[in-house]
Amino acid sequence: MTLPSEHSLSDLLELPHTAAASSLSELQKLIDDERARCGSVISIPVAQLSEAQADDVRVRFTGRKSPLQDWLRSLRNFPAEERKEAGAKINQLKAFLEVEVEKFVLECRAAAEKAKLEREKVDLSLPLPELAMGSRHPVSVAAQQLLEPLRRLGFTVIDGPELEREFYNFEALNIPAEHPAREMQDTFFVASQWVLRTHTSSVQAHAMLERGVPLRVACAGFTYRNELDLTHVPTFRQIECLVVDKGITLAHMRSTLDAFFAEVFGRPVKLRLRSSYFPFTEPSAEIDVQCQQCFGEGCRSCKHTGWLEMGGCGLVNVRVLESCGIDSKVYSGFAFGMGVDRIAMSKFGIADLRSLYEGDVLMSRHLALR
Ligand code: DAH
Repeated sequence: MTLPSEHSLSDLLELPHTAAASSLSELQKLIDDERARCGSVISIPVAQLSEAQADDVRVRFTGRKSPLQDWLRSLRNFPAEERKEAGAKINQLKAFLEVEVEKFVLECRAAAEKAKLEREKVDLSLPLPELAMGSRHPVSVAAQQLLEPLRRLGFTVIDGPELEREFYNFEALNIPAEHPAREMQDTFFVASQWVLRTHTSSVQAHAMLERGVPLRVACAGFTYRNELDLTHVPTFRQIECLVVDKGITLAHMRSTLDAFFAEVFGRPVKLRLRSSYFPFTEPSAEIDVQCQQCFGEGCRSCKHTGWLEMGGCGLVNVRVLESCGIDSKVYSGFAFGMGVDRIAMSKFGIADLRSLYEGDVLMSRHLALR
């Protein structure tokens, strides 16, 4: 059977001419007609009906427009001894219609869905539309952008292991065994003599021992510390620079830092070197950059100090030069190391460290709990 123009479906959905019966035999006739009518409708191939038409079928046979309710009400006109049988027959028909019509409507819906997918079928040979694939994380972007000015300043960009021997991470850098940086709460000890590097300064030792002098190297990479709170995360990135040559002084360090930050921010920025202590440099200083949100006025980003601490620097400690096989009477050097997150935050105007890790479900859950 093919459908049926719109007209013939609505013919099939018409209500019986007789509204109610008053005897069993009349009722039987109504029931047979209704069953036959429903049979004709549900034998229409489902693909030929729209979802709206399928809905009409449901409403007509099992919903609001079904005559069965009226039939049940008309039972009171029946001879008393026929009422029970008549009621049972109507209920049987009702159960039959509900099962069959429901099945039919579901099949219609599935067919409509399938037809829709067919219509929208993607032609895989067409070129892809431009997809928004997201972008690199600001800290990754910053790490790469920070290396560029250093390349231009003549630094060779090198790499070093993240899984590091204690020697390179500590001893070679004049951090003795009792130094607090080695304590369990700071360092991830992986195996005897092996740690996850706690800073990129370990690359300095590799460079001096493996490349020899003169040296002008930079590196950026992941570092690890066993700490997690609102301002510290266990995995972060640092950038490190090392110059060793004859006659290197603090003046070289200062001018390199000035040139570096001017390139990073695209304009000259105010730097402040604050006297400090690091085992691997002497003298040592903290590097502060004037807050680029408030330009020294004081704001939330700089905790109202006007300055942001970026990292440390200094002249390479003669002990470090010597333990890396460099004659400290002939050579001197400077080094600096900084947290890439901090520079990224300042460069991109990000006020809260945590927003860098919001996409990291595990990390953000930990931070939210604290
Ligand atoms: N390694 C230090 C840290 O992680 C930062 C640092 C300080 C690096 C002074 C240096 C330096 O190269 O000279 O806190």
